[in-house]
Amino acid sequence: MRAAIAAAPVGDDVYSDDPTVNSLEERVAEMFGKEAAVFTPSGSLANQLAIRTLVAPGQELLCESNSHIVRAELGAAATFSGITTRTWTAKRGLLDAQSALELARPNSGPYLVSTTAIAVENTHNFGGGTVQPISEIAKLAASADSLGLKLHLDGARIWNAHVASKVALAEYGKYFETISVCLSKGLGAPIGSLMISNRERVSTARVWRKRYGAGMRQVGLLAAAGHYALDNNIERLAEDHDKAKSLAKACQGVAPSTVNPDEIETNIVGLDLAGSSWSAAEFAEAAKKEGVWISALGPKYARLVTHMDIDDDGLRFAIEVLRKLLERAFMAK
Ligand SMILES: Cc1ncc(COP(=O)(O)O)c(C=O)c1O
Repeated sequence: MRAAIAAAPVGDDVYSDDPTVNSLEERVAEMFGKEAAVFTPSGSLANQLAIRTLVAPGQELLCESNSHIVRAELGAAATFSGITTRTWTAKRGLLDAQSALELARPNSGPYLVSTTAIAVENTHNFGGGTVQPISEIAKLAASADSLGLKLHLDGARIWNAHVASKVALAEYGKYFETISVCLSKGLGAPIGSLMISNRERVSTARVWRKRYGAGMRQVGLLAAAGHYALDNNIERLAEDHDKAKSLAKACQGVAPSTVNPDEIETNIVGLDLAGSSWSAAEFAEAAKKEGVWISALGPKYARLVTHMDIDDDGLRFAIEVLRKLLERAFMAK
């Protein structure tokens, strides 16, 4: 990847003159069966550019209550675009079209906020890497269409969903007006996301990207890392998924209430520490001292993520440490 970065032809991307960025944007749009894409420094920006092209100020975006857009983008939709949000709640973030549609209030006139779009996160991060069933996406899309609502896909980890479900990327693309994808995270690029849609929305997004101060110059260096990631690192995500399953089995072996390995579909393992005397923060702190970095995402909820830098030895090491700590955390109660 570093050699690809060094060899990349570059130009000024603010003027759409960087050939490596241009080819990356064309490549990714085509993968999803769409007309155009715009390169962004982060997945959050790709999400925000997408939803601001879909939802006017004072209108409403619906999403799941643990989705990244509402929990982890620090109010950006409201702050920058005047968008209001309402949420439905789903166990593991698993899409339930009916729950989403029950909230929809399109064309609500002067009395209620009008719904204009619905966001779906696939895979669902805080839900534990949940893959959204394509049948449920299709159901949501058909009803949304009849209500005049647009769908946005937060596909930061759509590659993981694609590898786990074997659903083609272009099949996902059929149901969504806008899509965000990340080349960092599981694909291993240092930076880089794209917002994907039709030509018109992408050219609007390009204006807003510049307005937000994220117009980039010779950024083909990073686009080259993205090309490399797409060439080499998609299919190997299956290895991360197998490792996550092994981690879940090991944790369940020591503390059965923490996780159900059958629910681990991709590279994220959510650990429920409700049955232990330790908080997730205490657990994460103890793990870090032993050399295993995990996230505390709730008072009793910790997240383990596998990725390309964790090899078999790394997995064995993590399992050893987690087993020891879970024994302590659950015995102490
Ligand atoms: C589902 C999802 N969407 C969007 C993002 C945002 O990506 P970034 O950290 O590049 O802004 C993340 C980051 O973890 C995510 O998990």
